[in-house]
Amino acid sequence: MTGSDPSAAEQADEGQVPQSVRWIGGESGHLEILDQTLLPGRREHVVCRDVATVIEAIRMLRVRGAPAIGIAGAYGLVVAAGEAMRSGLSPEAARSHVLAQAEEIATARPTAVNLRWAVERSLAVLATLPVESLPPLIAGVLLAEARGIHEEDRRLCAAIGRHGAAVLPDGGVLTHCNTGALATGGDGTALAVITTAWEQGRRFEIFADETRPLLQGARLTAWELCERGIPVTVLVDSAAAHMMKSGRVSSVIVGADRITAAGDVANKIGTYGLAVLADAHRIPFLVAAPSSTFDLSISSGDDIPIEERAADEVKRPLGVQAAPEAAAAANPAFDVTPARLVRGIVTEHGVIAPVTQETIAEMLSRQP
Ligand code: MRU
Repeated sequence: MTGSDPSAAEQADEGQVPQSVRWIGGESGHLEILDQTLLPGRREHVVCRDVATVIEAIRMLRVRGAPAIGIAGAYGLVVAAGEAMRSGLSPEAARSHVLAQAEEIATARPTAVNLRWAVERSLAVLATLPVESLPPLIAGVLLAEARGIHEEDRRLCAAIGRHGAAVLPDGGVLTHCNTGALATGGDGTALAVITTAWEQGRRFEIFADETRPLLQGARLTAWELCERGIPVTVLVDSAAAHMMKSGRVSSVIVGADRITAAGDVANKIGTYGLAVLADAHRIPFLVAAPSSTFDLSISSGDDIPIEERAADEVKRPLGVQAAPEAAAAANPAFDVTPARLVRGIVTEHGVIAPVTQETIAEMLSRQP
């Protein structure tokens, strides 16, 4: 069931960046997703009482950003258990239902590894329950785990912000896509680095790429910064080279959807181009991501699945016909930046620099 419920949640969020996902009630409650496709114009929430609505929200980018879709996925399993409760399924049938829905949720978007990571983390907890566990117990355990993942991400964001602010160079900073509160369970990853440095009293120009085709930078990053009272300048994506050459951009910091064991970074389409430009202008290119974004099962970025989205997003941005209907459009949602172009990766454990298989393995083995 899809619906919007702007009332109570909207009032509670007034004047601050709202949470992108939240669970309302106990184990028979529901998931509420802030519909990011409507921002910055409207604040409406999608009420998810069935898994189909959760999956639709993830696919349509109503909830988006690697950590946030992981959190939504974990709550999605609780929604699946709720479906089993309402249908009066036996313990065995309820468990099968949750497992089947888990696979649907985990594959709703292919590139961000956080989604499968969060689903598998919840399923591992489910596996510890006796097979005769009734659906309310299954839902309760999955809810506790989803809340744990959510709360943990909030803390990781704060740590990433602190570690990153300590190494963020002085001068203008350029970011791409949206990596703030809307994309995570806390204040963000790359954007938290920027806002933490700002809150520490440092002053610099902040440039947000508009991030075609869905404008996460213009619609969401700029909105978050404005809501926080932090000045931001929106750039068309193609302005980056000029801004670097003219000396107004001293560093680039972005988030990530998947980072391989060797440090290749998948992130929003356009990121690789920024890394090449930063290299050409001898500007540090930084990545900020929690450990849940690392996929140590693969080494090469060539093995990261890249989501291809509908041509309409390119040809009809915001519903405006911007290209002839007869034209084809390619719409890869992500690209891969090779590790050699990444100056450092900010994690909750600290900053990985230089970026190598060894330094990544060493940092990720540390306790937060
Ligand atoms: O397609 P999106 O909007 O989900 O893409 C998001 C990004 O590329 C972000 O940079 C990434 O997920 C990191 S969010 C902290």
